[in-house]
Amino acid sequence: MEIVFATNNKHKISEISAILGNNFDLKSLNDIGFSGDIPETNPTIPENASQKSHFIYDRYKINVFADDTGLEIEALNGAPGVYSARYAGEHCSFEDNVTKVLLEMEGKTNRNARFITVISLILNDKEYFFEGIVNGQITTERHGAKGFGYDPIFRPDGYNITYAEMSADKKNAMSHRALATQKLVEFLKKQR
Ligand code: IMP
Repeated sequence: MEIVFATNNKHKISEISAILGNNFDLKSLNDIGFSGDIPETNPTIPENASQKSHFIYDRYKINVFADDTGLEIEALNGAPGVYSARYAGEHCSFEDNVTKVLLEMEGKTNRNARFITVISLILNDKEYFFEGIVNGQITTERHGAKGFGYDPIFRPDGYNITYAEMSADKKNAMSHRALATQKLVEFLKKQR
């Protein structure tokens, strides 16, 4: 089965292809000749995932899935949420975003947060959603140098280290994205 993952992130593509195996011909946006940006203009993570998969489906009429992820912090009323990538401004770095969260969380005792990934799949003209959530805490300072994004300040529940202190294998086995991806893969495997 041919299926497009609406991303050009090679790491994400190879991770999912490896789990899906030979029965699926997984293609990136590059593979189908799409270059440019897919709009993400919705107020929620599921709507953004859906917007991305529909954007490609409407143009190519091909089975496709897209993911969207955000960090939701209770004491900040769910921020940065859908704005996780550009929390500190349009062209900000991961560093800038982390600094902004640490500043806004200064003095806050409620450090509860969660990472959420939603995948929207359009298969044979029907849409399906898969969700992965990891609850945790925002640390008061950075810990660890692995990973990316908010990893140095997110300590998942049940662990005494942040995402940025975990090996890639460990994070990829339990992360919000891994949980959503596992659900997608289980579903796709049943479609063969
Ligand atoms: P995307 O939807 O996968 O592009 O994620 C949006 C933003 O959320 C990224 O730019 C990061 O700032 C943040 N993010 C997503 N996944 C992770 C993660 O696994 N660790 C830390 N930050 C993440």
